[in-house]
Amino acid sequence: MSSIPNEINSPPTSAELFERARRVLPGGVSRNTVLRQPHPAYAARGEGCRLTDLDGVTRIDFSNNMASLIHGHAHPPIVEAVTRQLELGTAYMMATQAEVEYAEHICSRSPGFEKIRFMNSGTEAIMVSIKAARAFTGRPRIAKVEGAYHGGYDYAEVSQTPNPDTWGSIDHPNNVPVVHGTPASALDDVVIIPFNDVDRAMAILDEHAKDIAGILLDLMPHRVGLNPVERPFLDALREWADRHGALLLLDEVITFRSSYGGLQERYGIHADLTAMGKMIGGGFPVGAVAGRADVMDLMNPSGDNYLFPHSGTFSANPVSMAAGHAAMADFDVEAVERLNALTERARVGITEAAGRTGARACVTGGGSILRVHMKASPPRNFREAFLSPEENARLRAMLDHLFDAGFVMINTCTAMMSTPMTEVEIDALIDGCESGFRRIASMP
Ligand SMILES: Cc1ncc(COP(=O)(O)O)c(C=O)c1O
Repeated sequence: MSSIPNEINSPPTSAELFERARRVLPGGVSRNTVLRQPHPAYAARGEGCRLTDLDGVTRIDFSNNMASLIHGHAHPPIVEAVTRQLELGTAYMMATQAEVEYAEHICSRSPGFEKIRFMNSGTEAIMVSIKAARAFTGRPRIAKVEGAYHGGYDYAEVSQTPNPDTWGSIDHPNNVPVVHGTPASALDDVVIIPFNDVDRAMAILDEHAKDIAGILLDLMPHRVGLNPVERPFLDALREWADRHGALLLLDEVITFRSSYGGLQERYGIHADLTAMGKMIGGGFPVGAVAGRADVMDLMNPSGDNYLFPHSGTFSANPVSMAAGHAAMADFDVEAVERLNALTERARVGITEAAGRTGARACVTGGGSILRVHMKASPPRNFREAFLSPEENARLRAMLDHLFDAGFVMINTCTAMMSTPMTEVEIDALIDGCESGFRRIASMP
């Protein structure tokens, strides 16, 4: 008999659950991003692009679990594929047909994906990319953009959350830790460059040319302002990496949704390695690194350059493989383009709403993502995107307004769209933003 109490028929409220949660989970949560005042909303069920909480309120879900649900909740082909797999077992000390078929599918989406390995999160995919670059080049350092979020690996995390007191000169940004106690050696092995600033980035990279194993880049970094990388910056980094024998490591954990073959397809470039995650798990934990065969073969124990032993108990587990494959098979060129067009409608509509209301707000983004900033003009880098206390207060008020009006947003006021959405949900969001802008217009 199960000892887990069955609360399905009389579920607790979100407020009650949070009281219990605070006793056993630090801060009451397992991920800080779900925190809200006075307590988080607890999910009861999701269906398509709608999410219902334990208190019985249904909202349109523009967070899609931080961009990981490209088809929203409970997409029938994913439910079917996972159910079939559950009956066959969930993880084995054997390789599976599911992983081979899914590897073939993902590799077929981009000519640069010669080989692929799966893991369990975007953090892990970034870690594997960095380790592969070090192993391939024999060099210790990694370069990354100031403010860019790449998950929780020590090196990827450096200068993810600097502030005006810590970030230092723009010519030589400081290496700022996120977690107290991060070893100085980890900080020292990271080189921080400003986004979309060719001259400064080149000057900084040149100083460390002999030591840099790879340049880690998100082509549209969310925390840096959600602006697409400018072509000259990307070309300069690609050219610099080639000239100095370093690798270009793209983080497409979020941006892979932008095109059938990822945002890199739009730019017509190939990374040496690409890290993916989130949506390619179809709602289940996943990460993947794909790229050049000669680099990926560092992980091949029977190859002649086996420098990177890589494993993982749940790597390529068949549930994530089945769910991911079902999700990506349904995210074909037509679905990508439809979702991008829908999101463009939202970007234009919200921008016009900001204009009509006189709110100091603007919209950035691309593909199927947008971010609303409480700033009169779009920030171009992390320092410009950084919120003043007044802007932060207006952002919090805007997010509260949207939540109360029936929208779940990511807490930067970012929306990641899903395929069940139609013009109805997009226009509702535009209206919600317009009423929010009117409400915050009088704030300082
Ligand atoms: C761009 C980017 N890279 C990496 C990660 C880390 O992924 P995960 O949360 O699956 O570890 C994230 C997560 O938000 C991300 O947005």
